[in-house]
Amino acid sequence: MTIPLTDISNPPAPGSLLWQITRNTEPASVEAREAVLANPGFGQHFTDHMVDICWSEKGGWHRPRVSPYGPIQLDPAAAVLHYAQEVFEGLKAYRHADGSIHTFRPDQNAARMQRSAQRLALPELPTEYFLESLRQLVALDGAWVPDAAETSLYLRPYMFAKEAFLGVRAAKKVAYYLIASPAGAYFAHGVQPVSIALTQGFARAGKGGTGAAKTGGNYASSLLPQAEAYEKGCEQVLYLDGEYLEELGGMNVVLVRRDGSLVTPESDSILEGITLKSILQLAEDRGLAVEQRPVTITEWRAGAASGEIVGAFACGTAAVLVPIGRLVADDFEIVHEGPESEELALSLRQELTDIQYGRADDKHGWLVRLDA
Ligand code: PLP
Ligand code: COI
Repeated sequence: MTIPLTDISNPPAPGSLLWQITRNTEPASVEAREAVLANPGFGQHFTDHMVDICWSEKGGWHRPRVSPYGPIQLDPAAAVLHYAQEVFEGLKAYRHADGSIHTFRPDQNAARMQRSAQRLALPELPTEYFLESLRQLVALDGAWVPDAAETSLYLRPYMFAKEAFLGVRAAKKVAYYLIASPAGAYFAHGVQPVSIALTQGFARAGKGGTGAAKTGGNYASSLLPQAEAYEKGCEQVLYLDGEYLEELGGMNVVLVRRDGSLVTPESDSILEGITLKSILQLAEDRGLAVEQRPVTITEWRAGAASGEIVGAFACGTAAVLVPIGRLVADDFEIVHEGPESEELALSLRQELTDIQYGRADDKHGWLVRLDA
């Protein structure tokens, strides 16, 4: 179904209410697409089309369209290039055994994008526009949703300040885009335990900062610590706020206790993960205790030493859920190894992906069908 976009408070210009669809006349050949889908990697290949919707202070949201995927024209003075006024999201489309295409809790991504936009002084994209953009792209690019086990089409909605103006204030012209990229495992080694570097010199977010928003600047500042982590043989970085655990550069972190209860940090500078929220719900459904509260690195260290904390895992849309095998700090290491350290994490991963791929009952109503 195609819904017209209307913004009652800010009606768009006449004639711009309906989606404009321009098909790519030079889409990837079936052979080229199949070659990509057979080995998608992460974030390297893009589908034939993209969505964009304009926003202006005067016209509100207007001119929604689907066009051939390709470079975008931006004024060199566009504010995003100077002041990083940008937010983004990440979610996936999953192919079920009957060929249908579903996404997972997209209302949560839409709401988080609205919260991120508010923090970055960007306009909020209404949830129904967000959902419709996913449907419109999948209507044209559905063939790009792979069907091999544990593959998906990663959907990347984003929004940025495109007004050409160098004064520092919220832009009056903004663009929302949606692109899509076939995805396999985020980590090349799949679900093998990851090694994480603890950074003590760098911070991801400060009190009152943008840590809870999904904005590009948070990721830009993570690149240097991440490069240092690679040098130590680690895939991701764990950030602290003083003594307190925050999260990884692109994932939330959870500790697993001996009794099967889960502990995850609470802080207003952590990104509220949708995977995390869902995993915690599944754990609660199993009758496991779940605690979301401030957690110190000392608690993890002492708990690992005493055997009270048996494992840890990282979770996020791109990587789903991976056990943490090692936390490497300058002057100590925490090691979680053996089946006991991974068992619960891997069974929660299995339960979540069974729901996402339609192999298990979606009892919370988390799936939204995109191709019908
Ligand atoms: N934290 C950060 C910094 C992230 O980039 C992500 C990934 O989106 C997450 C946590 C996990 O969020 P979600 O599970 O909604 O993907
Ligand atoms: C996601 O998991 O969707 C993210 O945005 C994380 C990013 C590191 C790819």
